[in-house]
Amino acid sequence: MSDAVVEISGLRKSFGQQEVLRGIDLRVARGEVVCVIGPSGSGKSTLLRCVNLLEEPTAGRVVVDGAELTDPEVDLDAARRHIGMVFQQFNLFTHLRVLDNLTVAQRKVLRRDRAEAEAVARRNLDRVGLAEKADAMPAQLSGGQQQRVAIARALSMDPRVMLFDEPTSALDPELVGDVLGVMRGLADEGMTMLVVTHEMQFAREVADRVLFVDDGRVVEQGAPSEVIAAPKEPRTRTFLARVLDPTHTVPE
Ligand SMILES: Nc1ncnc2c1ncn2[C@@H]1O[C@H](COP(=O)(O)OP(=O)(O)O)[C@@H](O)[C@H]1O
Ligand SMILES: [Mg+2]
Repeated sequence: MSDAVVEISGLRKSFGQQEVLRGIDLRVARGEVVCVIGPSGSGKSTLLRCVNLLEEPTAGRVVVDGAELTDPEVDLDAARRHIGMVFQQFNLFTHLRVLDNLTVAQRKVLRRDRAEAEAVARRNLDRVGLAEKADAMPAQLSGGQQQRVAIARALSMDPRVMLFDEPTSALDPELVGDVLGVMRGLADEGMTMLVVTHEMQFAREVADRVLFVDDGRVVEQGAPSEVIAAPKEPRTRTFLARVLDPTHTVPE
């Protein structure tokens, strides 16, 4: 039996005339951390959104935890239930306490009773270092704390895989470390993770595998020691030179 949590094959996605994903194959094994890097507009968010069918692929197959999401007959709500997603924007309910942000979907989707949902929520707030913020309102928290709440909310649904789309890009620099620290902790616990990020240090240290995506294709992939430290493809080199030193200009 295959131990892949995510299996994507021949994935294509067009918006009108524009083909944004041009044939992506990707397998994420249980417990594996895969980081996706690449220039703005290369299709990284679209790729992630196709994994839980927030975007409907134009072609190809997406299987998560044994369920084929691209099967027209699939129960999408059931298949999505255990796919955690964390966005650049935290998307918390601003009118609800932190604790209630974590219990809504558990109660509605997983049909947990209040006591159980709250117990799970408190456990996950503790996991992200925010046990004492259960009664706070989101607006009382820093951006980094709000993002950790969003992570705890996703964890409360017992995810088989966590998808992160540039989770630290909207944060002030001094708040980035705490969020990356939480993600590193999850990786250490064996969580299966697919992470779009510009944090090269994080990718180097935490990723089992790095994918460089450009123009809707996987241009290069491998261990961070290969792709980030010793990229083979000129496009990867150009991208990394820009990201690692934004003042660096690449000769034409
Ligand atoms: N819903 C949409 N409708 C039309 N075009 C889109 C939509 N979402 C993304 N795109 C286009 O697809 C391309 C890839 O976008 P995206 O996946 O967000 O790239 P990245 O996350 O790598 O920056 C961009 O040109 C973007 O404008
Ligand atoms: Mg994006």
